[in-house]
Amino acid sequence: MLLHLKQILSPVQVREIRTALQASDWQDGKLTAGHAARQQKSNLQLDERSPLAVELGNALLQILGGREDFMAAALPAKIYPPMFNCYCDGGEFGYHIDNAIRQVPGTPVKIRTDLSMTLFLSKPQDYEGGELVIEDTFGTQCIKLAAGDMVLYPSSSLHRVTPVTKGQRISAFFWLQSLVRDNEQRRTLYQLDQSIQGLRRNRIEDAQADAEHIERLIGVYHNLLRQWSQTN
Ligand code: NI
Repeated sequence: MLLHLKQILSPVQVREIRTALQASDWQDGKLTAGHAARQQKSNLQLDERSPLAVELGNALLQILGGREDFMAAALPAKIYPPMFNCYCDGGEFGYHIDNAIRQVPGTPVKIRTDLSMTLFLSKPQDYEGGELVIEDTFGTQCIKLAAGDMVLYPSSSLHRVTPVTKGQRISAFFWLQSLVRDNEQRRTLYQLDQSIQGLRRNRIEDAQADAEHIERLIGVYHNLLRQWSQTN
């Protein structure tokens, strides 16, 4: 499941973060790339141990903790602290699949990467290129979101960032280990949750919306049955 979460950050929050990042010291993104990814990757990254990265990352995690849509879709067990990067001057990241296990720097904590997130901090009209292209069973998706919006996708997906030929593309990116490892099971739980929330909101005021959520619950029933039934 690929999910677009809108307005994680307000325009004011985006501007504050971008201003802080633009004044910071960036380092070569190759420093944190695995051996194979090093040749694929040309971008800039904020040192993840710098006070600014830690402060911004914590603030972002706090905001995400209050987002019901994110929590319901991701069911996070452990979250890798957000990192920040900048693509400019033709910078890109070729096709790759993210490392399966990441150790949180300076700690013994290991995180299995089930879901990858990118939060866009630059306005799409301020740079050219820089699309996040994700290939998976749902087809190839070309993602370039409004500043403050975030995409969440399975870490098992092949993906790349196309060259930024004009302007700067600044974003936050991170991974998490989910309480529910299987993408299909997590998706089914998310759909069930969405319909429960929808029915709770509507009660009996809106018969049309109720019909839509009942239809979705029937769909979830069939998806559970598809996963757990055997015909021979
Ligand atoms: Ni990646």
